[in-house]
Amino acid sequence: MTGSILIIDDDPVQRRLVEAVVTRCGHGALTAENGRLGLECLQAARAGEIEAVVLDLAMPEMTGIEVLEAMGRAGITTPVIVQTAQGTIDTAVSAMRLGAFDFVVKPVGPDRLKGAVEAAIKFGALAGKARTRKSGPGAERRIGLDEIGASPAMQRTAALARKAAATDMPILIEGETGVGKEVLARAIRAAGPRAGKPFVTVNCGAIPENLVESILFGHEKGAFTGATEKHLGKFLEADGGTLFLDEVGELPPEAQVKLLRAIQEGEVDPVGARHTIKVDVRLISATNRDLAKRMAEGLFREDLYYRLNVLAIPVPPLRARTSEIAELAGIFVDQARSAAQIGVSGLSKDALKLLAAYDWPGNIRQLQNVIFRAAVLAEGDRLEVSDFAQIASEIGTIRPAEPPRADVPSHVVEVPAQVSETIDEMSLPLLDSRGEMRSLAELERETIQAAIDHYDGRLSEVARRLGIGRSTLYRKLKEMGIDADEGRVGRLAS
Ligand SMILES: Nc1ncnc2c1ncn2[C@@H]1O[C@H](COP(=O)(O)OP(=O)(O)OP(=O)(O)O)[C@@H](O)[C@H]1O
Ligand SMILES: [Mg+2]
Repeated sequence: MTGSILIIDDDPVQRRLVEAVVTRCGHGALTAENGRLGLECLQAARAGEIEAVVLDLAMPEMTGIEVLEAMGRAGITTPVIVQTAQGTIDTAVSAMRLGAFDFVVKPVGPDRLKGAVEAAIKFGALAGKARTRKSGPGAERRIGLDEIGASPAMQRTAALARKAAATDMPILIEGETGVGKEVLARAIRAAGPRAGKPFVTVNCGAIPENLVESILFGHEKGAFTGATEKHLGKFLEADGGTLFLDEVGELPPEAQVKLLRAIQEGEVDPVGARHTIKVDVRLISATNRDLAKRMAEGLFREDLYYRLNVLAIPVPPLRARTSEIAELAGIFVDQARSAAQIGVSGLSKDALKLLAAYDWPGNIRQLQNVIFRAAVLAEGDRLEVSDFAQIASEIGTIRPAEPPRADVPSHVVEVPAQVSETIDEMSLPLLDSRGEMRSLAELERETIQAAIDHYDGRLSEVARRLGIGRSTLYRKLKEMGIDADEGRVGRLAS
């Protein structure tokens, strides 16, 4: 079954125009006249029913950006093409950062729109396959604590996580959106005594306020209108295992009180039940908000905060882990290739440099999306700088880049000239994710790694440029666990 395209636009003429193009290409069309209705439509749709969304950015009431944010919170991953007016490219860039698949500038030609829609559908199918591969039974590729990232910043996180895994302590995983908080939570569970036991996820940001209690603690049949069956609730589903409270900062105040009680007493009180029930869960919470700040603002209960946050594990943003980008990009190219009939088998060196120079506000998830998108659209068998024009033009916005032309697919927009300069300028962050100075040892390690990359693994050149003797370099490499016997080494060699 092929699905429909959802068109969200407040302008009836625009809706009609887009609908005409979409139906002419043989797709079904659904329309919504504002963001709220569009979201409802997405939430009510069955998997695959809506294949892509064409979203207007400038709408009263709820803007396209707000729709994208709400989709993110609700975990809706349907690919979105945003429509923007000439002169509002900044908003289009924000939309891409929020994970939009593509953007078109109004008035958009039918061919450009058709191309964007078909590519979005292909991308959606690809991302969907990659996801089911990851989460489907048996096929799950677990990322263990040993594989979550080789950068020094991530190694610190892994070390902390290893200690936490051995205990039953409540953990709070903190990090920006898309850094891999859920991946880490699963890895911690897999490394601990509850490995084979249930792992139950609650997305605290996505449950309607009036259902929080029933979803967390369950209800008896007939407890309220619509409660036609007894429902166990997430706590009891997780009994003996791990309960993952995702986006815990979003929990409404009333639910916070009840959650606190359940944790303190070690028992839950299902809606409409006569007795409380003992429950044994290990809690892992995650937040992309500054929970301490929310607490200070009175939005998060202090007592609950200290219950959940017995051990805080920060996950650094991708821009503080640039040494992982090459490996991650390779993983995502492989995922794309194995999930779809795609000829792409790798990335060029310059493309990798470009990716390393970008700041990745959407972190690993954004990197994954960017790679999938490039893989869907690429012509050659290797992804080149030109396949990442969006990223290149964002880096290029240090100086305003040419606005994309409506008639040219955005993936063939020329790369601004200054980008090649920007990507050649290597810089190491001096501060870590907490804003503290990083250690000399770490900076040294990353400097050496960068020099090896820059000089293609030619170690005598590396030593000369860094002003150290070859034997000192070899000793340092040995300490870093890099085998330098061949005289040429490279991180990318595997
Ligand atoms: N170390 C890793 N190796 C490969 N893929 C990873 C890694 N870490 C994260 N990912 C991928 O990146 C994406 C985002 O990861 P995850 O969902 O864990 O992030 P998150 O921090 O929970 O994001 P959000 O804040 O949006 O909920 C997922 O598709 C995940 O598979
Ligand atoms: Mg998450």
